[in-house]
Amino acid sequence: SKGAAVVAAVAQRLASQRRKVDETLAPFRLSQEQLQLVKARMRAGLKAGLKSKMTSGVKMLPSFVYHTPDGTEHGEYLALDLGGTNFRALLVRFKKGLQQNSRLYHKIYTIPLEIMQGTGEELFDHIAQCVSEFLDYMGMKKARLPAGFTFSFPCEQTALDTGTLVTWTKGYKATDCEGHDVVNMLREAIKRHNEFDLDIVALVNDTVGTMMSCAYEDPQCEIGLIAGTGSNVCYMEEMKNIEKIEQKEGEMEKKEGTPEREGDMQDDGTKGEKKVGDAKIQKMCINTEWGGLGDDGSLDDIITPYDIEVDQNSINTGKQRFEKMTSGMYLGEIVRQVLLDLTRRRLLFKGHVTETLKTPGIFKTEYVSKIESDRLALQQVRTILQQLGLKSTCNDSIIVKEVCGAVSRRAAQMVGAGMAALVDKMRENRGLDHLDITVGVDGALYKLHPHFSIVLQETARDLAPQCNVTFLPSEEGSGKGAALITAVARQKQKM
Ligand code: GLC
Repeated sequence: SKGAAVVAAVAQRLASQRRKVDETLAPFRLSQEQLQLVKARMRAGLKAGLKSKMTSGVKMLPSFVYHTPDGTEHGEYLALDLGGTNFRALLVRFKKGLQQNSRLYHKIYTIPLEIMQGTGEELFDHIAQCVSEFLDYMGMKKARLPAGFTFSFPCEQTALDTGTLVTWTKGYKATDCEGHDVVNMLREAIKRHNEFDLDIVALVNDTVGTMMSCAYEDPQCEIGLIAGTGSNVCYMEEMKNIEKIEQKEGEMEKKEGTPEREGDMQDDGTKGEKKVGDAKIQKMCINTEWGGLGDDGSLDDIITPYDIEVDQNSINTGKQRFEKMTSGMYLGEIVRQVLLDLTRRRLLFKGHVTETLKTPGIFKTEYVSKIESDRLALQQVRTILQQLGLKSTCNDSIIVKEVCGAVSRRAAQMVGAGMAALVDKMRENRGLDHLDITVGVDGALYKLHPHFSIVLQETARDLAPQCNVTFLPSEEGSGKGAALITAVARQKQKM
């Protein structure tokens, strides 16, 4: 009959739609072999980055942080934290030995887009203005507080309080900053402001701050991970493996005319100690900037046409390829690109390519997180899509949810594979068959997405079976950690 024919036709159309959607999402579903490849490439990137010549997308930047905290930190410090979208000012008070007793006051200021992408001077003037307001609020304008500056971008450091911005990442592109010392830029802005003074002691990446604040609670914490707007990791590396620093120190010593030095890194197994000042230093925290993996083409066989589209539309085309597949700033955009393609192929939204769908940035990662929440009924997915201006059928919302799931699962797996590469490297560094290690972690993707953290942990466990990796979420980590680093540096100066 006619009715039966219609039903059959509909069934056939649905089956073909299903097949095409599955085909579209297939490249996001990484096989075990592909994940092993990601791990191997990350491992190669970590290794290459430690060499003196920058050949790898993974920059491996020395942080000049030599120890995790030991509980003797005390005093009052200011932390200034420029992250993905916000600027935070914090006042932190540490009491000796009482780890829980670090008191904390903070204020958050949003950075408007026109400031993120204006001139460097405007950006740093804005920051000085925020600090000024915070000090007013705290009634502390007169004190010349020691401060740590958390600046969550790649900086080539030559000392704890000196570092030039290598390149902007995420949503920033303020002019006249790349290649400049950002601590100087901040000091200059504070001078221009002419209302308060600060003693800026440390320049700190957010990963390093996060590691430090978690290590304050757990001494096994020697890794800091951010899975938020951006994606990055830092870890404690043996001095003897950091060729960059080795060479620089070598040059310095040549200048000073010191012929040989002690504690050198011979291949005789007598540990890799280097003399910095008087203390024998064995490790330094390295900010990997692993978001740059793939910038040399090493992820090209995994990258999908949707990733290419996202990269092309970004303000830093060709850069941060790993970050663009794994972090909050981009996941929603990848999802949007897939939805756009499915709609153009009439597999979604009845083929209506709306203005909304064509608008970059509408799919915030928080929506991706919400849509994937298990507690959410399909009707609620439809409501969210409706809020975004997308009229969907029930079938549409199933597909949208699948797309979100595929994109965020790949992200978590890739971060897990990267983590596996890192912990295996650390285990081998120490010549161990088994390594117990804690990762301090922060970022909205990790904290708010319903599955990201679980998939990340599973993947890391599967790909690094000889390591037992514990993830410890941090509270206010990047700022508090910068304050800890400042405390250590300050106490040293006084000694
Ligand atoms: C970007 C930055 C990096 C930062 C990360 C997380 O990858 O380049 O420095 O740690 O975002 O905020």
